[in-house]
Amino acid sequence: MSFKDPLDEASGGIAAGGSLEGGAEQEVGHLPVMADEVVETLAPRPGSLQIDATLGGAGHAERILEASAPDGRLLGLDADGAAIARSARRLARFGDRAVLRQANFSELGEVAPASGFGRVDGLFLDLGLSSYQLADVERGFGFRAGGRLDMRFDTSRGLSAADMLATLAAGELAALFRRYGEEPFAGRIARTIVETRSHSPVETAEQLAALVERAVPTPRGRRTHPATRVFQALRIAVNDELANLETGLATSLVLLRPGGRLVVLSYHSLEDRIVKRFIAAEQRGCVCPPEVPICVCGHQPTLRSLGRSRTPSSGEVAANPRSRSARLRGAERVAA
Ligand SMILES: C[S@@+](CC[C@H](N)C(=O)[O-])C[C@H]1O[C@@H](n2cnc3c(N)ncnc32)[C@H](O)[C@@H]1O
Repeated sequence: MSFKDPLDEASGGIAAGGSLEGGAEQEVGHLPVMADEVVETLAPRPGSLQIDATLGGAGHAERILEASAPDGRLLGLDADGAAIARSARRLARFGDRAVLRQANFSELGEVAPASGFGRVDGLFLDLGLSSYQLADVERGFGFRAGGRLDMRFDTSRGLSAADMLATLAAGELAALFRRYGEEPFAGRIARTIVETRSHSPVETAEQLAALVERAVPTPRGRRTHPATRVFQALRIAVNDELANLETGLATSLVLLRPGGRLVVLSYHSLEDRIVKRFIAAEQRGCVCPPEVPICVCGHQPTLRSLGRSRTPSSGEVAANPRSRSARLRGAERVAA
């Protein structure tokens, strides 16, 4: 599931910039991951149009705007209204060079043209959640969160994690933990949730973490919390993250002009596999099955990979442990 370490974002111990205990909107900060490599791969030029579809704390967006000075423009998106408000403060000095919208990047096909970004030179995705979201105990992303298990990036729509835990059948919960968390004790955990909720609802992150801890055996020397995979699986399901990623990637082909660049930072293998396969498929010409003697698909390459994936330096991982599972991939749009 993970690249180097088991996924433990939800442990609350790896966010950049400080302690995660405390208030709902504590200014813990979010260090942009592989920022130099992102800017180098995206190569934003003065006058160019760029999209950062996952603004978060706007660390990357700020770097992209600096690199495209004096007149490059950036459309910044985030599904989370709090991220938009925070980014607006951080990017205020760029004036109308930064255009911010609260939207899901699966809606880029409509939002970008409507915002004057119908043909762009760069599109950047930094997947997953920010340290701000992890630190906000009301959002329920971290194990220690005492508030309701919400986990929605956009809190104005969709089912929360608590809703899913309350309504899905044991088989559905087990399938979810297996599919999005590759959780070996998926069935056992799902049954424990269903048993528990028959007498008391499972509504907080703390309750869920404790329940999983009770449900699964503890192997000696485990370095991560036993609920890591369950938390990740729920977050992916609540936000429909993998389907949205597929849609966002497909939309990049429509929005990028020839020579424009797609750059994606992913944090676990489910995401990275989608990005890797997308670039590989779009690089190919004919995609007919091998047994078809003459091409009937007419597929033309639409992307050129910008080389092998990259990972953060050991110095960056030491300074920002949240970066340790990051993997960067880039591709350039080619004229079809
Ligand atoms: C890792 S953070 C981005 C951090 C940012 N690059 C920075 O420098 O601060 C990911 C952000 O993407 C947002 N996000 C995740 N999936 C999204 C989606 N499908 N559409 C829009 N925003 C999304 C999350 O709300 C979160 O704020």
